[in-house]
Amino acid sequence: MPMRWTVASDVDGTLTGDRAALDRLAARLQKLRRAGTLFLILSTGRRLEQVVSGMAEEGLPEPDAVLCQVGTEIYVPPLSLASRPLGAWRERLLAEYSRDEAVSFLEGIEGLVMQPDVFNTELKTSCFLDGCPDPDGAAAEIRRRVEPHSGAYQVVWSSGRDLDILPASSGKGKAIRFLVESRGLDANRVVVAGDTGNDAAMFEQFGMGVVVANAKSELVALAQSLGEGRVYRARQPYAAGVEEGLEHFRVLPATSSGA
Ligand code: GLC
Repeated sequence: MPMRWTVASDVDGTLTGDRAALDRLAARLQKLRRAGTLFLILSTGRRLEQVVSGMAEEGLPEPDAVLCQVGTEIYVPPLSLASRPLGAWRERLLAEYSRDEAVSFLEGIEGLVMQPDVFNTELKTSCFLDGCPDPDGAAAEIRRRVEPHSGAYQVVWSSGRDLDILPASSGKGKAIRFLVESRGLDANRVVVAGDTGNDAAMFEQFGMGVVVANAKSELVALAQSLGEGRVYRARQPYAAGVEEGLEHFRVLPATSSGA
């Protein structure tokens, strides 16, 4: 029986950015899904609505599961605007997270702006720090405040702009782990792909990762610290980089394009 892979890819800046490359990659992934040799996870900070519209308008491939809001919500097909997140995951996270306490860690940070309400949910507290005099310093201060409560909360810092306070048990990496365990997928055959800091948790959890050429320095630094072999740094950006990495790990057969 052919081996079954799990591929978990970030969306913005990883799959999106080059529509022609995404169309080519999506067609190759769908072929594997139809053959039953691929379980595809879209792992994103987007809301479900934005993933559903992205499938219709941006060429996002049809997935077997979607992690939204940075791994605080999990959805499985059939996907529609009426889909509800998986109850088992939601309840587990709700038990450890207090939205009020999470917000209290952000008090008095100069220049901080809360993200729009739709990105602030019962399980995710998100703000922008790019208006702060020292964004990295502000993120470090928030990390210091959260540290004594690390059994319940984690801080995710991405792109020099976005800071999320999530339940400690959530995030993209742990949400994929939950799916791997609950779906009986092979944890040694998971390849992840990303471009920014909120993807770091996926690389920490799993043995094989693809960093696209346009990745932010925060993810490149993490990839370097994980060492040779585990992470493939693609020469190409966006979906072409993902395709290159999936060929490197032999999830996709190599093409003659030299990618
Ligand atoms: C996405 C989400 C945003 C989050 C960011 C980083 O852009 O929409 O809420 O802060 O990812 O995780």
